[in-house]
Amino acid sequence: MLVSAKDMLNKARDGHYGVGQFNINNLEWTKAVLQTAEELKAPVILGVSEGAGKYMCGYTTIVGMVKGMINELGITVPVALHLDHGTFEGAKKCINAGFSSIMFDGSHYPIEENLKLTTALVNTCDILGISLEAEVGAIGGEEDGVIAAGECADPAECKMIADLGVTMLAAGIGNIHGKYPDNWQGLSFSTLEAIKAAVGDMPLVLHGGTGIPADQVKKAISLGVAKINVNTECQIAFTAKVREYIEAGKDLTGKGFDPRKVLAPGVEAIKDTVREKMDMFGCIGKA
Ligand code: 13P
Repeated sequence: MLVSAKDMLNKARDGHYGVGQFNINNLEWTKAVLQTAEELKAPVILGVSEGAGKYMCGYTTIVGMVKGMINELGITVPVALHLDHGTFEGAKKCINAGFSSIMFDGSHYPIEENLKLTTALVNTCDILGISLEAEVGAIGGEEDGVIAAGECADPAECKMIADLGVTMLAAGIGNIHGKYPDNWQGLSFSTLEAIKAAVGDMPLVLHGGTGIPADQVKKAISLGVAKINVNTECQIAFTAKVREYIEAGKDLTGKGFDPRKVLAPGVEAIKDTVREKMDMFGCIGKA
């Protein structure tokens, strides 16, 4: 079922586990994530960046694909289809296309502008039953060409955005998109504690889930994180396995060139990564 992320995140917060957002890139990705969530009876969030949205031929195509798969694959676990790091225009398009969850990322605006634009989306999302994620304090690393240094959010600004009535809040705590550099200092738990104290019950979102050690992820969940985003790790796993297949020359024997065969090891690698993350987040069996 395509649902808002609200209930699944409130349950995760109360049950002290995290729900995974796995970014999708194509049909194989979407199928792999949905099938693994169903296998493990875990709620799941499919993340779509604006770049991936364009690649997959627009938001209405994605809504059609995801709804069709939920139906054809007999997916029974709650699934949220979520815009990741959306612009204001992107958020409007996804609302119209039938997404069940939206992230409006106004973190690069001055806080007054971020508050104004987030406010404009709160009522619409509320009326339509769409969950809304806001962001304060840029997440480090590169996302669709936007680069920021690993920043920590200001708890007072977090409270201002949380008080608008958003569903969930992404706040920088030293996390970075993509691979973590060797000299990464780790997550700032003092910042996370201060944010949690400021925003109360609001489920918090941890971006940059790729490569954060399990003990840090678990500690972040214990301090109020209810949603963890993973993108790069699935991409690395997928590409490594497809490379192995081709380098072993398997595409050169029999019908090994069939794209369904070429991509199959990559799909299995995505599934393994999703299983590992869901186990780490504690969401298995929580659907
Ligand atoms: P990673 O690519 O580092 O896993 O981050 C994903 C993310 O935060 C998407 O918003």
